Amino acid sequence: MIESIDKNNLPRHIAVIMDGNGRWAKKQGAMRIFGHHHGITAVRDTVKACGELGVGYLTLYTFSTENWSRPKAEVDGIMNLLVKTITDEVPELHKSNVRLKCIGDLSQLPKNARESMIKGIEDTKNNTGLVLTLALSYSGKWDIIQAVKKIAEEVKTQNLEIDQINEAMFGNYLSTSPDPEVDLLIRTGGDHRISNYLLWQSAYAELLFLDDIFWPDFRKQHLFEAVLSYQHRERRFGKTGEQIKEKQIK
Ligand code: FPP
Repeated sequence: MIESIDKNNLPRHIAVIMDGNGRWAKKQGAMRIFGHHHGITAVRDTVKACGELGVGYLTLYTFSTENWSRPKAEVDGIMNLLVKTITDEVPELHKSNVRLKCIGDLSQLPKNARESMIKGIEDTKNNTGLVLTLALSYSGKWDIIQAVKKIAEEVKTQNLEIDQINEAMFGNYLSTSPDPEVDLLIRTGGDHRISNYLLWQSAYAELLFLDDIFWPDFRKQHLFEAVLSYQHRERRFGKTGEQIKEKQIK
């Protein structure tokens, strides 16, 4: 499968909505947290697949702003799992030259989760391979608002003129900056929505909704299939198909 992938046409940035952990667990008569635990195997496989291909950026929707309203036991379970996973996996990530990052409102996280995240980021900050970003206490609307606040502050302090505000510079104020925008957005679990994920950054992303796979079952092979599917699509960015073909010939 990996041989069929065109290494010159890889998505630079893949974002994933890891959905279906709860339903996966329920299917086996287990508690929802069991599904989250098994989701880690899928995370490991996805990171390895991206590394093997040479994808530059992988951003995982690990915990949304809205997820805080889940039952406390589940929230606590996910936070504990996060701490354990970061502690267990960072040495391996470091060996593989992966750089760990985080986007979201970290101030909302329990202290131990925030601290282990900050340590993981620090330990891997000089790595030059895959950039693995965990979206934690994140929402796309939160990201846009925090960017607007920073810009407003600069206008207020006269470091920026209103006329200088444009699409190109706005991206620099988003939490993902300086990473490129999303090329491929994958969602497992059967729902066809973006759920307040990387709203600005996914403006031109190819969307791939996997109906038959809950996140804990996602493996390398699914990531490779997703990239192949991306490569079969024509990305027009508002232009005509003919314009795109002319550009390819030139
Ligand atoms: C969505 O499934 C999944 C989450 C809200 C949590 C995802 C967290 C992990 C995979 C574990 C931590 C990950 C890392 C990278 C340390 P759901 O609970 O909404 O499933 P459902 O739609 O079946 O209810």
